[in-house]
Amino acid sequence: MLPVILIAPSILSANFTRLGEDIKAVQEAGADWLHIDVMDGHFVPNLTIGPQVVADIRKMTELFLDVHLMIEKPEQLVPAFIDAGADMVTVHIEACPHLHRLVTFIKDQGRQAGVSLNPATSECLLGPILPEIDLVLAMSVNPGFGGQRFIYRVLDKIRNIKTMIDRQELSCYLEVDGGINAVTGRDVVGAGCNVLVAGSYIFQGDSLNKAIQSLKALKA
Ligand code: DX5
Ligand code: ZN
Repeated sequence: MLPVILIAPSILSANFTRLGEDIKAVQEAGADWLHIDVMDGHFVPNLTIGPQVVADIRKMTELFLDVHLMIEKPEQLVPAFIDAGADMVTVHIEACPHLHRLVTFIKDQGRQAGVSLNPATSECLLGPILPEIDLVLAMSVNPGFGGQRFIYRVLDKIRNIKTMIDRQELSCYLEVDGGINAVTGRDVVGAGCNVLVAGSYIFQGDSLNKAIQSLKALKA
């Protein structure tokens, strides 16, 4: 049976010169998913990785690949990330004028579809798409960089999204990303999240194992 709270380490804070070893380490420490941050230098002011890296990761792990696209015109690159082996493809609502079309495409390809909201984006925009998607990703920092401080105001939005999901008896995941550690993790789990992304807390602290265990110990 799946644990109630899923832990998705973000490789953005891993050491890219030994990415394979870092991925194995989080897998052995009990990570449930692997969160992969894709940035294009336009939607966010940073550049990270492309489909080739995802394809190489796909070859070395069976972890569920949770691909977070922080890019403009995501429809142009979604097929490449699907071909690379992404299990979940999450796009930003702010970057998608034709969101329903893109979500439908991702699902038609047999993959799960997620929709992400920046901290200042209202959850009201989710209404028409919520029954169609597998995951809502609530950003708790402004996307672009690891190691930023958690924005507490996002907790109210998370509670509202959880209410929307429950009212419609939907089974979609509610994921939070940015500034997550054992303290903020407890707060977001209390607000209704069931997937925790964490980068710097896991990869840049004293013990990767202890960090993952501290998040896994959080109870819904
Ligand atoms: C931020 C990324 C996050 C980032 C989180 O734009 O989407 O996934 O890696 O890093 P931490 O956990 O350090 O805030
Ligand atoms: Zn992310």
